[in-house]
Amino acid sequence: MWGAMPFTRGHARPDAARSLAQYRRRAPHYDLELMPFEPVRRQAIALLDVGEGATVLDIGCGTGLSFAGLLQRVGPQGRVIGVEPSPEMLALARARVQRHGWQGVELLQAPAASAPLPRAADAVLFHFTHDVLRDPAALDHVLAHLRPGAHVVACGLQWAPFWMLPANLFVLGAALYSVSSLEGLELPWTLLAKRLKSFEARPMSWPGIYMAQGRSR
Ligand SMILES: C[S@@+](CC[C@H](N)C(=O)[O-])C[C@H]1O[C@@H](n2cnc3c(N)ncnc32)[C@H](O)[C@@H]1O
Repeated sequence: MWGAMPFTRGHARPDAARSLAQYRRRAPHYDLELMPFEPVRRQAIALLDVGEGATVLDIGCGTGLSFAGLLQRVGPQGRVIGVEPSPEMLALARARVQRHGWQGVELLQAPAASAPLPRAADAVLFHFTHDVLRDPAALDHVLAHLRPGAHVVACGLQWAPFWMLPANLFVLGAALYSVSSLEGLELPWTLLAKRLKSFEARPMSWPGIYMAQGRSR
């Protein structure tokens, strides 16, 4: 039923320069644009299997909209490591951290494929990071920095079944604005799934959005 937009198959993989340009432009109004998706973020963070003191990677952390929820999950002894290549997005993340006086957040300005991550993180969140999920080098690098059995949560845009035209128009508009390639929007998690064990993905009640989780090997 999914995989409804075959014309996007085989398109180029993510284009880092294009993505950087997109988020340099979007940064000033990004938080406002994301407001309708905040219930999805809350669900993704609630799903993460992490306890007090855990280290969580927030890959493609953007302006840091997930930090408050993640810090609540890992407590004062925990750590959140935000990875983000766009300087404009990261500057807003840094300002957010300073504004709140958060001690447990570390920010890395780098693409996921080459970020200097700590070893053996306990969990990773990919929240609306389609470009990262379609980049094998990025996934290999991030997953190599998780402990075995670490929890992985990913969510984002996905083509709805073909007959759900309004949902697919929404996905198309959102994707053209926020990802650098439409490749893989049928099943955005395929590269991730084959690198994990006990993987599952499901559509959310909002058509065009999925939630996925799994465990690192
Ligand atoms: C739709 S935003 C999501 C931001 C944040 N996760 C959130 O939910 O608010 C996608 C983010 O992924 C970042 N991104 C794009 N390519 C990336 C890469 N190769 N490595 C890490 N982050 C990347 C973008 O700069 C952007 O900030």
